[in-house]
Amino acid sequence: MRPHALVPFLGAGLVVAALLATPLAQAQSAILEGERFHPEVGTRGMVATSHFLATEVAHEVLAAGGNAVDAAVTAGFALAVTQPRSGNIGGGGFMLISDEDSGEVIAIDYRETAPAAATETMFQDEQGNAVSEWSRFTHRAAGVPGTVAGLALALEEYGTLTLAEALAPAIRLAEEGFEIPPRFAEGVAQAGDRLTRWESTRAMFFKEDGSPYEVGETFRQPDLAATLTRIAEQGAREFYEGETAELIVAEMERHDGLITREDLAGYRPDIREPSHGNYRGHDVYAMSPPSSGGVHIVQMLNILEAYDIAGMGFGAADTMHLMAEAMKRAYADRSEYLGDTDFVEVPLEGLTSEGYADELRAGIALDRATPSAEIAPGNPLPYESSETTHFSIADGDGLAVSNTYTINFSYGSGIAVAGAGFLLNNEMDDFSAKPGVPNAYGLIGGEANKIEPGKRMLSSMTPTIVKRDGRNFLITGSPGGSRIITTTLQVLMNVIDHGMNIQSAVSAPRLHHQWLPDELRIEAGFSPDTLALLEARGHTISQEAAMGAAQSIVIEDGRFHGGADPRRSTSSAMGL
Ligand code: DON
Repeated sequence: MRPHALVPFLGAGLVVAALLATPLAQAQSAILEGERFHPEVGTRGMVATSHFLATEVAHEVLAAGGNAVDAAVTAGFALAVTQPRSGNIGGGGFMLISDEDSGEVIAIDYRETAPAAATETMFQDEQGNAVSEWSRFTHRAAGVPGTVAGLALALEEYGTLTLAEALAPAIRLAEEGFEIPPRFAEGVAQAGDRLTRWESTRAMFFKEDGSPYEVGETFRQPDLAATLTRIAEQGAREFYEGETAELIVAEMERHDGLITREDLAGYRPDIREPSHGNYRGHDVYAMSPPSSGGVHIVQMLNILEAYDIAGMGFGAADTMHLMAEAMKRAYADRSEYLGDTDFVEVPLEGLTSEGYADELRAGIALDRATPSAEIAPGNPLPYESSETTHFSIADGDGLAVSNTYTINFSYGSGIAVAGAGFLLNNEMDDFSAKPGVPNAYGLIGGEANKIEPGKRMLSSMTPTIVKRDGRNFLITGSPGGSRIITTTLQVLMNVIDHGMNIQSAVSAPRLHHQWLPDELRIEAGFSPDTLALLEARGHTISQEAAMGAAQSIVIEDGRFHGGADPRRSTSSAMGL
């Protein structure tokens, strides 16, 4: 197995906490010696992804003179092969691209859409009860996939490679196979029941005799190689109108699914304007609807900017309390207002305005947690009209890419398209199956996120690019369902407020509050004294496993710093 550039600690929460007690103000790239956690450093570019093989092929593209978008599309297809539990061509996502030369930051929205035959109550039984099994583990759980069209659009508009060139490493990895790392084998073992339920999925992940692949064995995916080869030869429309489309439709027809030829042929990615805000002199760009991520990052930063977070310090009860209070208020608004802006009006201007943040801040007490029951979605007028993967890439010519894509759960619906070698998403669960009923991440959605044909389901994915003095500065984002937005927020605050280098910023322990349930979730690594102080203010603390995996980059003083998130054992950053 090839070694990979991964940070040297895992589960060392207490050590991290001790490190973080040291003031690191504005340390990012100036002098790293003397610090305990070290980012990967490059002078001409950086790739940070959740799988070392994807990092490697994207790095090769940059080294050969390709730009950050070329490298991103190459990584996106490679992850579909090396990390099939979340890397995907059967799902969708969002890509932010920042071009320093033009000053433009754009977002490619390749989120899945609801099929034309989808209805508002399709996941409710005759008594009107939401049936989560239907929205998660059936063929009806799948939205129309957007990844192939989205990556192809990025390449066409901003890349220099042909689609066939960007697909070549993925095809090679699928055909020749790769050595199975421990995380891959563990994932398959954990999801064993789901992956053996459908013959097409069983055939993909298990040997012919039904036994699992062992760590170090070679994993080949001939059906996926054939699918990717068809796309390379015939173009992205092959997935939507060619043999691959036929295989998807046949799979749907055999199992009562809804996606038709017309749904596939009609799928189009969109280019959108990202949400934008300002935080302590930095320009923050993050994904706009149909993601809630960008809106709420900006909203929370607006609330928090008025406090002396740096002075309070990382991991201090005051800091954590204020973050939790901001989070609760943002997630309450999410439950009411957020949805696909092509279908519903979302008060984006209000939600991201400083005036509204002032109003929300006025309701925050420093010495007492506001119980979630006392927080209702606010009034941000005026109206104007558990596996995902994130990667960050920057080149030496001022182009940066922040991409998060997903099939929703680890292994999506668990259903592989027979003969095509890829898993279908279960993104339909991100709609509200019934207003007020939580989805898999405990997120409540309202009318704004009800199911409608052709609509995109609300997401939390938050690919983010922060600029400083007009230059790309921080590129980040994360998986983690509802915790994506708060994970991304914390990476940003760790760098901007606490002056951490990017490796320390992604490694630091995290917290999360999403309004409902009323609990403050925390990773290991915060001190018991601090947690006691938070409990005394009324917070209910719940200790959680690791949250998020924020593969990130900071660019400063002409140097590229890569932070691979230690929460994924395959994470890697490579600079050049
Ligand atoms: O779009 C969303 O918000 C979710 N489908 C993302 C799912 C996810 O991050 C699962 N990961 N760990």
